[in-house]
Amino acid sequence: MRSFVWFTLAVASLVTAAPSETKPCGAHKIKEEIAHPIGWVKGKPAHPDVPIELRIALPQPNFSELERHLYEVSDPFHERYGQHLSKEEVEALVAPHSESVHMVNEWLASHGIYEDDIVRSPAKDWVRVTVPIRLAEQMMDTKYYVWVNEKDGNTIIRTTQYSIPENVHEHVELVQPTTLFSTLRGMDTTFRFTAEDSANVAKVNADAPPISVPSASGGKVDASCNSTITVTCLLQLYNAVGFKPTGKVGNAIGITGYLEQFANIADLQLFYAEQRPDALNSSFKFVSVKGGLNNQTLSEAGAEANLDTQFAFGLTHPIPGTFYSTAGRPPFIPDAGTPTDTNEPYTDWLDFVLSHPSPPQTISTSYADSEQTVPVSFAKRACNGFAQLGARGVSLTFSSGDGGVGDGDPNPATQTCFSNDGRNVTRFIPLFPPSCPFVTAVGGTIHIPETAVFFSGGGFSNVFNRPTFQELAVSKFLAKLPKGKFAGLFNPNGRAIPDVAAQADLFKIFLSGRTGLIGGTSAAAPTFAAFVSLLNEARLSKRQAPLGFLNPLLYTIDALSPKAFNDITVGNNPGCGTEGFNATQGWDAVTGLGTPNFGVLKDIVTSFPVSLLP
Ligand SMILES: *[C@@H]1O[C@H](CO)[C@@H](O)[C@H](O)[C@H]1NC(C)=O
Ligand SMILES: *[C@@H]1O[C@H](CO)[C@@H](O)[C@H](O)[C@H]1NC(C)=O
Ligand SMILES: *[C@@H]1O[C@H](CO)[C@@H](O)[C@H](O)[C@H]1NC(C)=O
Ligand SMILES: *[C@@H]1O[C@H](CO)[C@@H](O)[C@H](O)[C@H]1NC(C)=O
Ligand SMILES: *[C@@H]1O[C@H](CO)[C@@H](O)[C@H](O)[C@H]1NC(C)=O
Ligand SMILES: *[C@@H]1O[C@H](CO)[C@@H](O)[C@H](O)[C@H]1NC(C)=O
Repeated sequence: MRSFVWFTLAVASLVTAAPSETKPCGAHKIKEEIAHPIGWVKGKPAHPDVPIELRIALPQPNFSELERHLYEVSDPFHERYGQHLSKEEVEALVAPHSESVHMVNEWLASHGIYEDDIVRSPAKDWVRVTVPIRLAEQMMDTKYYVWVNEKDGNTIIRTTQYSIPENVHEHVELVQPTTLFSTLRGMDTTFRFTAEDSANVAKVNADAPPISVPSASGGKVDASCNSTITVTCLLQLYNAVGFKPTGKVGNAIGITGYLEQFANIADLQLFYAEQRPDALNSSFKFVSVKGGLNNQTLSEAGAEANLDTQFAFGLTHPIPGTFYSTAGRPPFIPDAGTPTDTNEPYTDWLDFVLSHPSPPQTISTSYADSEQTVPVSFAKRACNGFAQLGARGVSLTFSSGDGGVGDGDPNPATQTCFSNDGRNVTRFIPLFPPSCPFVTAVGGTIHIPETAVFFSGGGFSNVFNRPTFQELAVSKFLAKLPKGKFAGLFNPNGRAIPDVAAQADLFKIFLSGRTGLIGGTSAAAPTFAAFVSLLNEARLSKRQAPLGFLNPLLYTIDALSPKAFNDITVGNNPGCGTEGFNATQGWDAVTGLGTPNFGVLKDIVTSFPVSLLP
């Protein structure tokens, strides 16, 4: 990153240089325009000297080619299954046309911005330049304002409309931060410190006989698991007791953290001492993305980050774990000294991890935005980034959301189920990235026997069409909906959420040295990811390729092997003043295909025709 002092000097010279070097680039034409964003109040004009890092996306003309490769290597019936693409192959497939690179260069040069000022992604499909607001306004014939969030008072610098020169239009897919008004949230809805000390919590049902669960390891689960979820509970319930990863087959698992959440290592050791004694003294690799924090002060740890790391790494020990901490969050102080941020750090993380030669094969994220607050162009572009990771053999899980069919805000009083498109009609609100078809969206269950947990995010994307891999499963579900039910509230042709589910409440974690119970689909995503990582361990130890993009495989397995997932048929996910969807037999918009049966899945994924690793 550039130092601020250097930056101020550079900006000064840019601004003075600009007028004399201006080249005609054609008249400006509107590139993107949005209605007044719900939940935001327009404040004063942005200070002209505030630096802003513009990200310019150049079109990826061969993306459909990448998508074809992705589906071939992810379809278990295809001869290329598991033959993932290299970093270089993926980059070649998302590279922009050289004319686009040239035209964007010309446009930037006409404002005094040259190669030395530009940061390019490895595939050259993203260009970043840091400029003062006044120059951004000239480049895009726009006006930036300070916008204030009605709920939390956070401020961002945005505009509702921007233009670019007509002859550059087809060479630029989007420029941000402009119209992006999203508010990234962690999906850890419920958190309560337990009143008792840790010993008491575990003892609640110590004497009760185990619960009979036919699909579990040995057909039973400890009685205490109905009120407190531990690593042991999940290994029992999802039939993985006795599977011992070596951690020596090149397998790895990653957890992403945003919003300045970091995972506390002292808490992790307390957690291990109680729930995973053989992991004691082991830790994970910390990776800072764009200055993401790793403040190990005990009182500063994040519940979300602690939950994700304690369970993901606790379930998969000794598979090496990585925690990515990506910077970028409100509050942002709108003065000249503070660079504004995108408030949408997935692209920073994607840029980082895509530039890495060998990312972890399984990565879980428990953060999301309301899909409607993410501009369509941006959602599609970020989703394409997830596809690139899938093509390289990385499995991505995302929490499906904690608001049922609502916007992920667990508080019904502040939940906003109004469309953000200017029409302000009532509408179910799916979340992004879970609505991206190239990631695996994980919903939530509770109790044993398992039922759908009421907050489990589910529904249908308004941006992404339904992919073929889920058409059969989802159309059966839609056919069962009472006629006309929720008509107009959701898009019946959309990508359906979630794909699968896992336990999502009553997880016992350590935070700041104390135990607490926590819930949210935040718990479900790293749990499902952990079992995926164990499946990868089984495959890699037989020199089979990792699973990569999971969805085509998951739906295929479910259709052929009913025992691979525990079908959840009780519960619903209320929101937006409705009772939400019902959990039903087969796929449903609350728990997807169901929760994993590791033992059955392991036998399947290590037995079908596979391409061996080189
Ligand atoms: C896209 O693919 C076509 C056909 O394979 C190739 O000729 C063309 O150069 C590619 N475009 C880019 C921008 O790489
Ligand atoms: C688990 O707890 C739920 C909710 O309290 C209860 O309905 C269910 O019967 C319990 N399961 C068992 C096996 O007792
Ligand atoms: C962890 O480290 C402590 C202190 O160094 C040591 O006493 C203990 O045996 C170690 N535990 C394991 C499981 O390695
Ligand atoms: C961590 O945060 C605390 C409180 O905000 C601060 O006092 C401390 O200096 C920070 N430590 C590090 C290593 O950044
Ligand atoms: C949208 O409609 C709801 C209910 O009619 C109303 O409460 C809300 O203020 C409206 N929001 C906007 C931005 O018009
Ligand atoms: C859910 O199930 C209940 C009880 O069978 C039924 O009355 C209701 O219409 C169902 N709702 C949906 C959305 O399918």
